[in-house]
Amino acid sequence: MINSSVKFLTIEGMEGAGKSTNLNYVIDFFQQRGIPFTATREPGGTEISEKIRHLLLEHHNESLAPLAELMLIFAARAQHISKVIRPALEAGQWVICDRFTDATYAYQGEGRQLGGEKVELLERFVQQDLQPDLTIILDVPVALSAARVEQRGGELDRFEVEGSDFFQRVRDAYHQRASEAPERYALIDASQSLAQVNTELQNILEQLLD
Ligand SMILES: Nc1ncnc2c1ncn2[C@@H]1O[C@H](COP(=O)(O)OP(=O)(O)OP(=O)(O)O)[C@@H](O)[C@H]1O
Ligand SMILES: [Mg+2]
Repeated sequence: MINSSVKFLTIEGMEGAGKSTNLNYVIDFFQQRGIPFTATREPGGTEISEKIRHLLLEHHNESLAPLAELMLIFAARAQHISKVIRPALEAGQWVICDRFTDATYAYQGEGRQLGGEKVELLERFVQQDLQPDLTIILDVPVALSAARVEQRGGELDRFEVEGSDFFQRVRDAYHQRASEAPERYALIDASQSLAQVNTELQNILEQLLD
């Protein structure tokens, strides 16, 4: 059983939006208040799920069929839910996850153009009643996302090499999902300074704890 005062939070947004940076801010926020939590990420979060993450992000000599990509993501998610997310929630810890199923709707559903129905089917099958209580979307324009990725340097992964049309569909999908269920989403303009983003984040977290 999951106590209703414990919350499952997810952080979403495109490459370079600041998910990892702001996740650290959320971690500090919980640590300072002595609230037990587990911070994790997708795809990944367990030994096996991290192996699937590598498979998803690396370049291969053959293309990965979009449907195979989708199934791998949900395989990693099933493992992550079973080994990390549900046990943490059941133990009374908050869970903060860098990306979750909203990313699948955005990247595989719309980016890869598989459509939301396939994602929804697997979501029901794998998650059953598990849904984030709140999803924070760090929203940046496509060009800014690309600029931050470039600034960060390093090799581009299998998603980062996609073009602006792909990422525009991803961004539009996040907006669409947030507008369909506004109570479950907090959209932050992540093109603002990090200090401004942190202030908005702090307000959202304080409201959640009220
Ligand atoms: N609000 C901001 N203003 C300026 N720079 C930022 C801001 N937020 C993050 N950055 C910088 O942008 C880069 C990408 O941030 P970060 O790695 O947190 O993004 P991410 O959303 O986790 O990306 P990915 O999806 O690739 O993991 C970092 O160099 C970070 O310092
Ligand atoms: Mg990151």
